[in-house]
Amino acid sequence: MLNTPHAMILGTGRCVPEKVLTNSDLEKIVDTSDHWIIARTGIRERRIVEPGTSLSDLASAAAVNALDDAGVKAEEIDLIILGTVTGDMKFPATACMIQDKLGARNAVAFDVSAACSGFLFSLRIASAMMAAAGYRRALVIGAEILTSMVNWQDRDTCVLFGDGAGAVVLGPSVDNRGIIHCCLGSDGSCAKLLYNPGCGSINPPTPENAAAQLHTIHMAGKEVFRHAVTAMTNAMQQVLQEAGIAPDQLHLLIPHQANLRIIEAVAKRFDIPAEKVYVNVDRLGNTSSASIPIAIDEARRSGKIAPGNLVGMVTFGAGLTWASSVIRF
Ligand code: ACO
Repeated sequence: MLNTPHAMILGTGRCVPEKVLTNSDLEKIVDTSDHWIIARTGIRERRIVEPGTSLSDLASAAAVNALDDAGVKAEEIDLIILGTVTGDMKFPATACMIQDKLGARNAVAFDVSAACSGFLFSLRIASAMMAAAGYRRALVIGAEILTSMVNWQDRDTCVLFGDGAGAVVLGPSVDNRGIIHCCLGSDGSCAKLLYNPGCGSINPPTPENAAAQLHTIHMAGKEVFRHAVTAMTNAMQQVLQEAGIAPDQLHLLIPHQANLRIIEAVAKRFDIPAEKVYVNVDRLGNTSSASIPIAIDEARRSGKIAPGNLVGMVTFGAGLTWASSVIRF
């Protein structure tokens, strides 16, 4: 049975940096090849910020596009939730910087840390706050400058990530459109499969810790891959089952864009044909929490999602965390 949605997407927006970093560019930095990267990940290029661009700049640009698209003024927003692990600073929350940049002075603003699951975690929190606490217009953003924590000497990780931001404006549901169901999960016992050990209170940013590259991404790629396929498959199964939706009722599946092989493995488990699976990992790499909202905006603006379509989303990230959702646009 389909749940009655409380919140629907009124508008979407995105911002990706102009600067392109290709696989051939990376061949000049580390011992890798265009062929290896495409074969193992599906990534051909990614976007990276110029020095001086802040996360709140990228996220605010995506938010302005989403507000324009929704026809909603910044002052009408009463809630801003940003999913990110690469905020402007350790504190205050980057969502507060965005509130200021947008002039959204009536909004409560905070960040959510769930790595690549950050956007769907934020969407779930926003829809629950709208259903239970009277918020009416929310801005939900996923944005990352992951290249700020990449070790450019580590070929296992530096080829995977890119920068970007995506945003949606939520308002009260009409005509049964909106967020039908979400499922979230976490498993902290696997935290050290994918983590950034530096800069926090355990390993403060001392010169020794910086020299040991503790402030960069550390990842056990093979294990992460295995967990990603299992967790995304289970999360998808759960959300469809609990919402009473069959895979073939989905107009489009938007999976987290980490690796084409993970995307294909998940789609195959549900017998979803390639033309119903959104892919942009070839152009943008893994933009973590930004990956799903960027894909939503691209899909809407290119006509791949129309009002009334049922769209599934599923993600996986550090934590470990995972999340899935079904939305009627
Ligand atoms: N270029 C060339 N060779 C490489 C590179 C590279 N960039 N990176 C690793 N290799 C080598 C390895 O050293 C290894 O060599 P060896 O056999 O001589 O030891 C060989 O390629 C195979 O390495 P594997 O790690 O076994 O390669 P695998 O097929 O597992 O692919 C990858 C690695 C792409 C990282 C894969 O494991 C993966 O995608 N994992 C999931 C990563 C991910 O999605 N992370 C993020 C999810 S959560 C989030 O989004 C934050």
